[in-house]
Order: sequence, then structure tokens, then C-alpha cells
Amino acid sequence: MILGIETSCDETAAALVTEEGEIRASVVASQAELHARYGGVVPEVASRRHLELVTPVIRETLGVAGATLDDVDRIAVTQGPGLIGALLVGLAAAKALAWSRRLPLVPVDHLDGHVASLYLQPEPLEPPFLCLLASGGHTMLLDVRSHTERELLGTTLDDAAGEAFDKGARLLGLGYPGGREIDRLAQDGDPAAYAFPVARVPGLDFSFSGLKTALLYAVRDLGEEELAERRADLAASYQHAIVRALVERTQEAARQAGRDRIAIVGGVAANSELRASLPAAIAAPLSLCTDNAAMIASAARWTEPVAYPRYLALDAYASR
Ligand SMILES: Nc1ncnc2c1ncn2[C@@H]1O[C@H](COP(=O)(O)OP(=O)(O)OP(=O)(O)O)[C@@H](O)[C@H]1O
Ligand SMILES: [Mg+2]
Repeated sequence: MILGIETSCDETAAALVTEEGEIRASVVASQAELHARYGGVVPEVASRRHLELVTPVIRETLGVAGATLDDVDRIAVTQGPGLIGALLVGLAAAKALAWSRRLPLVPVDHLDGHVASLYLQPEPLEPPFLCLLASGGHTMLLDVRSHTERELLGTTLDDAAGEAFDKGARLLGLGYPGGREIDRLAQDGDPAAYAFPVARVPGLDFSFSGLKTALLYAVRDLGEEELAERRADLAASYQHAIVRALVERTQEAARQAGRDRIAIVGGVAANSELRASLPAAIAAPLSLCTDNAAMIASAARWTEPVAYPRYLALDAYASR
């Protein structure tokens, strides 16, 4: 079994996954509540909380699976991209465990992890396919050719789609993290109430910063009471603009790459309008869209392990 550890942002997560991609246990301790009062993740606070949680979360994972460290064949850990201090906690924990057991360590790229969420049981997807990876930090169109080869066809030029959701939620006075809140509120709103612009940048890239500014102006023009009345319409229209941009470019990318299958991964793949707008797309289960360690252990199945003692020198990276 592979023990996966993920601490790149504000989720402390561990999972046990078999070589065949079966999840034996997946534990995610979210710090969202801790960061909510700041309206976003505070890196130093996240690192300190990871430090408190990482051992209990690993212990709980083993407990859920009814396993011990004797059952673990290798340790997989997110090496980057993410918050450096947060990543270092997971990496140090992984090194210590691997060293104490003389196990190989597999450093995993967090984005490989999001894609590998599709390779887990009970219905693992086989490449090739066109993948939209939309999360808090990234918005990418990937032509996934095999478990190890993929081409980046498009990316965001400014904010990530999840970031646009979170910033929009903040403008609307909703809680953090905002994506889920907008999704919920949008159910009661009219997506055609406001015509928010969808930036058309050349090629297959995205841009969400103009949209955010449009929402800012719309909110500023409303009084407190009016805003309360129109909040659901604003959320629905704003979400609709983001989803339309994602869907248009994703379909265009699939056409250009000649792929008939589309998959969506990352936190924004949990969005109900996005899922409904791409009914034929393969989406990871909701629990595997946002950060988790099962996807990290899954990616480790196609990543070269590093032997003892070389992995002791591994460092985390904030961005690619
Ligand atoms: N139902 C939803 N609708 C829209 N966005 C959502 C929904 N649920 C979660 N999100 C968004 O997903 C993002 C979190 O996703 P994820 O955990 O994959 O990102 P991350 O790990 O912070 O970023 P990255 O993976 O790029 O490092 C947040 O921006 C959140 O608002
Ligand atoms: Mg993520």
C-alpha cells in the first residue's frame, strides 16, 4: 500500500491507496474554519496547524484502514506547488516516516495529483482525454496522453477559476471558502440577471480579473438592502460567467486536440453548474475534487520513487 500525505494549502490529509488504485482510507482535516475569519488562508497559521494535525491524521488513516506502518510499501508526499511552509511540514513528516521504516519516498506534484484523482477505483479513467484542472491556484487545459505524458494547452493569464469564486464570494459578503457558498446561493438566483463579461483572450487561455472588477462595480452601485435582495442573482450571474468561460474553452480544446472524452478535476470541478454544463464529462467524485491525499498516493503509482538516503535532501517548491 501507498501512504499519501498532502499539506500544500489548508487541508491536512493522509490516505492509504493500493497499487490497483483502491482507496483503503482517506482522511482530510480542513482548516477552513481557522482561516475563515481572515477571509483567506494565512500561510503561517496553516503551517502551524499542519504541524499539530499531521501525525494524528496519519494515525487516523491507518486506523480507518485497520493497517499499521508494516503494511505500507512506500510514502508519497506533495512536494509542490503550494505554500512552502505548509508543504515542508508534510515533506518532513514523510521523510521521517520513510527513514524510520527504510521505505522509498515518492515526491508528487500536486497537479499530477489532481489529474490522478481520475485514476482511482471504482471507475478509473484511462488516458487519453482532455482535462480541465480548475482549482484555487490553477486553471489549466491539459491534453493527457498517458499516465505520465501531458501537454498544457491553455492556462489562466491572471486569477485561477477557484480564486475568482473566492474573491467574488468575498465581494458578496459570503464566507470562506467561497466557491461552495456561491454555488449554493446561485441555486436561488437568475444567471441572466447581470451580463458579466467573459474575457476572450487569444488561444486557449483564460482571464478572470475583468469579471471580478465587473462584480465589484455591480456591488458598489447597490445599497446594503439592495445588495441583500440581489445577492443570489449576482452569485448566479457571476458563476454563470465563470462556468461559460470554462466550458467554451474546454470544448474548444477537446476539439483542437481531437479528444472525445473530457474530464474535470480540482475544487471547481465540484461546482454544480459546471458539472451540469458538461454532462458528458467525467468528473472526480466530490470528495476527490478538493485537496486530499488519495490523489497524491494515486499519482505516486506513476512517479519514480527516491531511495534512502537521497530523499532526505528533497526540498519543497512553491511554484513550477
Ligand atoms: N462547488 C464549488 N463551486 C465552485 N468552486 C468551488 C466549489 N467547491 C470548491 N470550490 C473552489 O475550489 C477551490 C479549492 O480547490 P482545491 O482544493 O483543488 O484548490 P487548492 O488546492 O487551494 O489550489 P491548487 O490545487 O491549485 O494548489 C477554492 O477556490 C474553492 O472556492
Ligand atoms: Mg489543490
